[in-house]
Amino acid sequence: MQKISVRGGKVLKGEVSISGSKNATLPVMTAALLGESPSILKNVPLLNDIKTMAEVLRKLGSKAVMEDHQLKIDPAGFNKFEAPYELVKTMRASIYSLGACLARQGEAKVSLPGGCAIGARPIDLHLKGVEQLGAKVTIEHGFVHAKASKLKGATIYLAGPHGPSLGATVNVLLAATAAEGTTVIESASIEPEVEELVNFLNAMGASIEGVGTSRLVITGKKILKGVEYSVIPDRVEAGTFMVAAAVTRGDVLLKNAKTGHLTSVTEKLRQIGVSVEAEPGGIRVKGNGNYKPADVMILPYPGFPTDMQAQIMALLAIVPGISIVTETIWENRFMHVFEMNRMGADITIDRSHAVVKGVAKLTGAPVMASDLRASAALILAGLVAEGETLVQRIYHLDRGYEKIEEKLSVLGADISRVN
Ligand code: EPZ
Repeated sequence: MQKISVRGGKVLKGEVSISGSKNATLPVMTAALLGESPSILKNVPLLNDIKTMAEVLRKLGSKAVMEDHQLKIDPAGFNKFEAPYELVKTMRASIYSLGACLARQGEAKVSLPGGCAIGARPIDLHLKGVEQLGAKVTIEHGFVHAKASKLKGATIYLAGPHGPSLGATVNVLLAATAAEGTTVIESASIEPEVEELVNFLNAMGASIEGVGTSRLVITGKKILKGVEYSVIPDRVEAGTFMVAAAVTRGDVLLKNAKTGHLTSVTEKLRQIGVSVEAEPGGIRVKGNGNYKPADVMILPYPGFPTDMQAQIMALLAIVPGISIVTETIWENRFMHVFEMNRMGADITIDRSHAVVKGVAKLTGAPVMASDLRASAALILAGLVAEGETLVQRIYHLDRGYEKIEEKLSVLGADISRVN
């Protein structure tokens, strides 16, 4: 089992290139199945989740060949409709094959994802969406089985108890491209990853209006062709490096990072006292020794993202005063708190609130990562902790951060992967 070893105390300085977005690439990969010709995706991050999705596409009969950061998807052989448990259990985004298989084959069989380390993760909105398009859905032996002799456009309201659903919006968009007539998605997710999918589908020849808004209007049954497409930079990777610069009081230029996708993170960091400025080609983040506590409310985009909650907490843990972090999206996303407390942090949890009392210093310790973003947050805490922090279960990290230890090392961190 590999681990990440971090010795804290180095000030990060220099430039880092932000990779392509994992959560934007995954839906776009699935959408490439809907074309009548191959698509070439560029700026694809080299991550285990991308490899898993490529495996899902192959299981469905298509070809997916990765060369460096370019992925060629040839949907010519796409004639199977089952996503097996082995793949869905390692990556929940395999559920996107539901929409794609229904669109192209009128049938989909996808293993039910189940819960995970951050919460229950229901898929009721995905199922409601495809049912309203005319699919008959049954759940048997741990699989969702959806069938439709004909998909028909409908008006679908997709908000759940915690706001819109990114994944359900993806599945309904994919299925609606093949539906007869017009589909309207009300309360669609407006996360940049959905906007990216809409742009990709439109580039393929789809007709989707309302890009970037919560009301998407899809005119179905257009002929879709493969395209060449470059994926947007990863806003969560960028946000993680912003906190790395802030927590070490460093000076880092994030090359390719998109300011427009990071407004809430930028605003919060500025409120804490971090300097964040757009520069040609990226975002410069400068830390200092004079930070103030801040309350962070996690909300659907454009609010402060849940995927940055653990990382901002690593910073607030050493900011004098009391900060309150409220998680509203995932009911169990505070597992990193217990590990940070083992490093000397003073954080208590009261239902969906974490009360963070800033401490003067953290001390390195062996810690256990519980999910992808928690892994990154523990590395961030390790960057300022006294002595060595040994982050275990880093297979989570490899799902979503391309070469994070190499990138941090170039910036001056004392970090390495150990066996
Ligand atoms: C996506 O998950 C991301 N994953 C998550 O990032 C991210 O945390 C989440 O969106 C929110 O931004 C990918 O893009 C692969 P949702 P997704 O459906 O699509 C509820 C990471 O670290 N809901 O938008 O699964 C749900 O319980 C990952 O990269 C229902 O009630 O999230 C949650 O409270 C972790 N019923 C809220 O909606 C449903 O059918 C938002 O979930 C679906 C969701």
